[in-house]
Formats: sequence, structure tokens, C-alpha cells
Amino acid sequence: MRIAVVGGGSTYTPELVDGFARLRDTLPVSELVLIDPAADRLDVVGGLARRIFAEAGHDGTVTTTAELDAGIEGADAVLFQLRVGGQAARLQDETWPLECGCVGQETTGAGGLAKALRTVPVVLDIAERVRRTNPDAWIIDFTNPVGIVTRALLQAGHKAVGLCNAAIHMQRKVAGLLQVAPEEVHLDHYGLNHLTWELGVRLGGPEGKDVLPQLLDEHGAALAEFLQMPQLLLERLGAVPSSYLRYYYRHDEVVEELGTKPSRAAEVAAIERELLEMYRDPSLTGKPALLGRRGGAFYSEAAVALAASLLGRETEESPSADVQVVNVLNNDTLPFLPDDAVVEVPAAVSGTGAVPLPAPAVGPLMAGLIAHVTAYEDLALEAALRGGRDRVFDALLAHPLVGQYREAEALTDRLLAHNREHLAWL
Ligand code: G6P
Ligand code: MN
Repeated sequence: MRIAVVGGGSTYTPELVDGFARLRDTLPVSELVLIDPAADRLDVVGGLARRIFAEAGHDGTVTTTAELDAGIEGADAVLFQLRVGGQAARLQDETWPLECGCVGQETTGAGGLAKALRTVPVVLDIAERVRRTNPDAWIIDFTNPVGIVTRALLQAGHKAVGLCNAAIHMQRKVAGLLQVAPEEVHLDHYGLNHLTWELGVRLGGPEGKDVLPQLLDEHGAALAEFLQMPQLLLERLGAVPSSYLRYYYRHDEVVEELGTKPSRAAEVAAIERELLEMYRDPSLTGKPALLGRRGGAFYSEAAVALAASLLGRETEESPSADVQVVNVLNNDTLPFLPDDAVVEVPAAVSGTGAVPLPAPAVGPLMAGLIAHVTAYEDLALEAALRGGRDRVFDALLAHPLVGQYREAEALTDRLLAHNREHLAWL
């Protein structure tokens, strides 16, 4: 099986390679192709990837290339994990929104819109080349903002599924608290990427007993600390929100906090420098602990499970093995959203794709916000595809964290000023 990774020079790649090595019975990768325009990083990351395979006794090969078309040739699945503009662009996204009293974040709010505008055209171009070279290949999109990027891919008719590690991370967290095996925990995880709630926590599979009330009762304090949200809020919601919901439920407080500390982009840039130094060391043959300070925990488990199921290799290990949380077309899953919205929900995954399980009822407190952000995502995608200041303004005005004329105007000006080199239509 040949797997290609676009953005393979990422410092995250050893996490993925470690997963391919550990989980090779689930997904036997014979060739892993790392594709990246940054030759120096690719060299360093590729070298470590080979050592990880060798150390694990994995007989698959790792190749590296800057040539997209050559790299994707013959791939069964292509993973997208790219970041247009790198951490420098992320630093901007996290900074200028704060000047307008709005959260500065890489996927949420105005910063997330900037990222979508930079990213969608690049991803669509790459996907088109995948389709031309390799029409049967699956695209697994990790590229943020995953909801908007996946919607762009599906709208253009690509064979794509969007993936985020948030659900699998929460599954592991909950399993730890309940002291059960992670495979035993099935989350009723509903919403949009980075805007989800666990509406149920079932043991043994999608039909298992819902232990969410006990979880909130016995471990509410631990979860609240993990999510950086008040325990009383979790109790009021009767659900476990995504940690990204703190940008909504605690928006003003978070803006204040962000103004007083170094940005996450700066932290990540420092971690990345250190990681690359470590990766250069020929005696390093595994992923270093420092990688755990990035946000991508369990991202390789999620990627391997999804690729294995899409490529028709689901295992019999547990009854829920092929039910995975993914980003897919809504169709009728959440009845208050249009069919062509992209939702993040549990789905049965097989060689023919991901089919959402029937969803439980979603109350107005959550449905209202989900619908609001869906409308924003719709306008954000329009702006990304067609360009124009007015479309950027509309998307910002539609965002629940912006919503006011004066702020939307000021944010639009800043977004355009900081992204000139990345927006072809400017
Ligand atoms: C989680 C999210 C990703 C996000 C990452 C940020 O993994 O699901 O979508 O990109 O965190 O982590 P970082 O270490 O870059 O701040
Ligand atoms: Mn994510």
C-alpha cells in the first residue's frame, strides 16, 4: 500500500510514521512518500522517518520528493497536512484580531478565516492533481480549517474525508478517567470541526450504555480543568464541549489572557526549532517526548484507522472499529443544517466512504451555534473561492464571534493587509 503525505516535511510527521510502524498489521504501508517543497526539512524528517521504520523492523520504504505529481503517482491514499505561509502566517492570524477585541486563533474567528482564504485554493489545486494522476485515491484532509477545507473538496467532487484528532483525543481522555480501554468508549460527538459536543459517552459501542451523566458527576472537575472551562458550565450543558468552545463561552476572558502571554505560534515555532535539531541526530530512532507538547495527540491513530477502513482493511478487533468520527457531508444527519454542510460526526467507514450514524436530538443551545457557524463557513468558502473584500466582510459579519459592523470592517482591513502575498485575487 502506497501512502503519500502532502506537507510531509512537517515536524508532526514522526508522529504519523510512528503510528504506521506500530499499527502496521492494521495498515501495511509498503511505501510512504513524503512530499514537501521545503527541501531541508524534508531531508531531516525523511531521515528520522526511515530510522523509525528500521528500528521497528518495518520493511516499508520511505521516499521524499518536492515534486507533487511524482509523489502522488500510484498512491492509494493521500494525506493533506499542509500549512500555507507556515507558522509565520499563523502568528499573524493569532495577533491582529486581538487589536479589534476578538480572539486570535488559528482556526476560530477571524484568524481561522484568514487561514481558510490562504488554504482553500492551494488544497483544491493539489486535489485536482491527485484526481488527474490517481482518480481512485482517497484524500484524507488534516489541513485546517478542516470543516471549510473538506467542504471545498467535497463541493468540487473529490473523494475526500476530513479528519481531526479532537475526538480520538477525547476518547482517550475519557477512557483514562473511566479506566476502560479506549476502544470501549464510543462518543456521540456532534457539531462542526472544532465546534463539537460529546452528547453521549457509550461503553462497548454505538448502542452501548450512556455513562455521560456519571462521567460528569464523577470526573467533571478533571474534565473542566482539561478543557479550561468552568465545571458548572459543563453541568449546565449536560455535555462535554470541545476545548475550542472556550473561545465562545469564555471569549472576552480568553482575549484578555491572550494579550498577556506569548502566542501559541511563537511557542510552536520554538518547539519546532528544537524538534528539528533532535530529528537531525542520527542516533534518534523514535518520536521524541517533546512532540507531545504539540496539539496533535493520537493523530496517527486516527489517520491509520481511517486509512485502513477507507482502503478496505477494517479489523474485527472491536465492535466499533469501523465507526470513526470524521468530517463528512451532513445530508440529513443534523436536520437543522443544509445537506451540503460538512459536519463532524461518528460515521461507519468502509471502502465506499463514510456514512454518518443516525444522530441524537441536538438541543437549541447547541443547534443555534452550529447553524450560525455553518452559515459563516458557507460565506467563508465563498470568499475563499471567489475572493473580494465584500465577501470577506460578509463572512466576518456572519461569524458569531464578530457580528458587529465596526469590528467586521476593522478585521477585514487587517486580514487583507496581512495576507497580501497569499491571496491571488488581491
Ligand atoms: C489539535 C487540533 C489541530 C490543531 C492542533 C494545534 O491537534 O485538532 O487541528 O492544528 O491542535 O496544535 P499546535 O501544537 O500546532 O498548537
Ligand atoms: Mn483539529
